[in-house]
Amino acid sequence: MDVPLYFVSAIYVPHDSYLCFYCPLYLFINYVDLQAEILALQLDSAAKEKAAQEKAAKEEAEEEAEANKKRHLNAVFIGHVDAGKSTIGGQILFLSGQVDDRQIQKYEKEAKDKSRESWYMAYIMDTNEEERAKGKTVEVGRAHFETKNTRFTLLDAPGHKSYVPNMISGASQADIGVLVISARKGEFETGFENGGQTREHVQLAKTLGVSKLVVVVNKMDDPTVNWSKERYVLTSNILIPANVDILISFHHPLLCRYDKIEQKMVPFLKSSRYNTKKDVIFLPISGLMGVNMDKRMDRNVCPWYSGPSFFEVLDSIEVPPRDNGPFRMPIIDKFKDMGTVVMGKVESGSIKEGDSLIIMPNKDPVKVVAIYCDEDKVKRAGPGENLRVRITGIEDEDILSGFVLSSTVKPVPAVTEFVAQLQIIGLPEKAVLTAGYKAILHIHAAVEECEIMELISQIDMETREPMKGKVRFVKNGAGVVCRIQVTNSICVEKFSDFPQLGRFTLRTEAGTLLGTTMMLSPASWVFSPSSSSSVVFSRPQRLPLVRSAVDGRNEIVPPAQSQIPNKVLSLCLFIVLLVNKVHSLLKLLVEVTESVSVLKTAAKTRKVAAEEILAAFSAIEKAKVDPSPFLETLGGSESPGRTWMLIFTAEKKLKKGRYFPLTAVQRFDAAGKRIENGVYLGPLGALTFEGKFSWKNRILAFIFEQIRIKIGPLDPIKIGLGKKDAEEEPSNKDPFFIWFYVDEEIAVARGRSGGTAFWCRCRRIAS
Ligand code: GTP
Ligand code: MG
Repeated sequence: MDVPLYFVSAIYVPHDSYLCFYCPLYLFINYVDLQAEILALQLDSAAKEKAAQEKAAKEEAEEEAEANKKRHLNAVFIGHVDAGKSTIGGQILFLSGQVDDRQIQKYEKEAKDKSRESWYMAYIMDTNEEERAKGKTVEVGRAHFETKNTRFTLLDAPGHKSYVPNMISGASQADIGVLVISARKGEFETGFENGGQTREHVQLAKTLGVSKLVVVVNKMDDPTVNWSKERYVLTSNILIPANVDILISFHHPLLCRYDKIEQKMVPFLKSSRYNTKKDVIFLPISGLMGVNMDKRMDRNVCPWYSGPSFFEVLDSIEVPPRDNGPFRMPIIDKFKDMGTVVMGKVESGSIKEGDSLIIMPNKDPVKVVAIYCDEDKVKRAGPGENLRVRITGIEDEDILSGFVLSSTVKPVPAVTEFVAQLQIIGLPEKAVLTAGYKAILHIHAAVEECEIMELISQIDMETREPMKGKVRFVKNGAGVVCRIQVTNSICVEKFSDFPQLGRFTLRTEAGTLLGTTMMLSPASWVFSPSSSSSVVFSRPQRLPLVRSAVDGRNEIVPPAQSQIPNKVLSLCLFIVLLVNKVHSLLKLLVEVTESVSVLKTAAKTRKVAAEEILAAFSAIEKAKVDPSPFLETLGGSESPGRTWMLIFTAEKKLKKGRYFPLTAVQRFDAAGKRIENGVYLGPLGALTFEGKFSWKNRILAFIFEQIRIKIGPLDPIKIGLGKKDAEEEPSNKDPFFIWFYVDEEIAVARGRSGGTAFWCRCRRIAS
């Protein structure tokens, strides 16, 4: 206690008493304070240290918990209306303990009151009044559940055609798809074959990047199915192997349900570019009864299925590769909750509390206040997670679905025009797509009106390469590189850089799926990413458009009308086609005239090169000249008809040809339907064949009835060629000529053997 002693001695020091008194007292007081403070500080730092330790331990635990967190997958449930998507979703929540028996009883009662008894399981997912009353999902339902190794975000899409835009928004957030097919009699057929949504959902899912599909054949418990598969025959609940011959006769097509559905689905899935061996798995379930869902199938219920349960299948699906590039989260929805909350799936990068981000395309800076993953608040989240993010710096009304929460350093590009490769899959048979076509574009969570401004080149669907030459229109099934303009700016990436934000779908205003992208053309951005500031738009411009597209009201446009881009364009197209047709006809005419002139010169001079004559044959054959005056020109209107001298013969397929070395003539008597074919050897004599012919269109078929042989000055010898029925008309079974061209001087024809020849008209040589 040195200091208090010093204090006591000091107060006895004369003259300095005041000072001395004061100073030590001050020091004393301060000393006491200091002591207290030191003590307090010591206590405080111990507490703080303890708190810090606790905090660090908590953070470590949190980090460890986050690190040990199960992997995460987003699964969208798709398929035709009433296939059972919501029922399966509800059953999953029940089986995973999120809904108890009491709640189920409540739903049962509510469903019964609405005369929708069997919908009670679907009511777990279908939460709004309209959905429950109609038994149809409208908004994409969301839920979370876990299997052994995986956390799932379940996205229950609507199956009804009117809500396809909502289905697209659900599928655009998904990693995998659960395609629900109803096995019930008639329901599979309606969903798959008769313009049902099964096909459109599959095609959309593929386009939207859903690379794996679990095809659940649902309602297997239904009395029209009763867990039947091809190899089993069911007679009054007794299952007997079908290879017992005596029972084969009882076999009924409905009892082969599962196999039949799989057989029909596989080729379709393949044509939709799914690898059915690697990326698709089929399994039978009953969503309503919860059979083959969390537990494997009871063999007494379904003896032929021994595969994994639905949960096992889900648990074994590979997580697609995640992108750890700059942060991008397309906004699906937003709402007010102690600030502004945005919802969406992180497509790339990660996010943590306190981050400064930007909302594109309007470039609004925001700060991240809190992050919620499933039901939990988390400090950070990575790609693939479905999140709710509370932000400051923006009001919820300044955000639209389709905006993208994005990194500030490398914001997502925003454009109003771009070049894309489009595959046309939904045009009616006779319709064509031209520049000027207007459609609704769906890309991640964005929906915009767009117009195809220019068709740049057609794509060869075999090689997937752009073809040379201009393209004015394309038909269904074609691929085309085109320039597309959207009404308002959208956030997109090049497909080659970032497929999730680079694939899109075009639908007609009537709601038909028009086409899907294969990729955005890599080098052809019309607006560069840096030009995004120039395309910022105000909200009122955009909202009505998006609404009308999203709520499916655009269906009021009749489908037939919507296929015509506009009348002016159609007229222009017609004129272009007409001019083209006239042009090609004129071209053909010139070619034929030139070719005939070549043949006439050859007949006169026998000096025209064989190649030239072969080329003339080819041009004349292609021209398909009208054959109606041929017969009369060839055989005159009176007997004995007209005579033609053979000039040149060519081999099959016009490979080679030569001038005919002998004098050979043909006489055709159109009035008497007689033909005479002779070879004249000057004073040595002649050999002629005589017979009858028939004429149909451009084909002259003939039968020779006798040969006449004349040797030197002797009388000709006549030899009959077998007995022929006088009534019998020559047909194509007999020798024939197909005539390609006949005028007063020249005739061109091909014989049955495939060789082509031409004749020139001559005076008849007297025998
Ligand atoms: P949308 O949302 O309108 O596209 O229909 P959804 O696919 O969600 O169908 P939902 O779950 O609403 O079920 C439609 C009907 O099918 C309801 O009556 C269900 O009870 C019935 N259902 C669904 N799953 C099964 C099943 O496994 N077996 C039987 N027997 N009925 C089922
Ligand atoms: Mg539903």
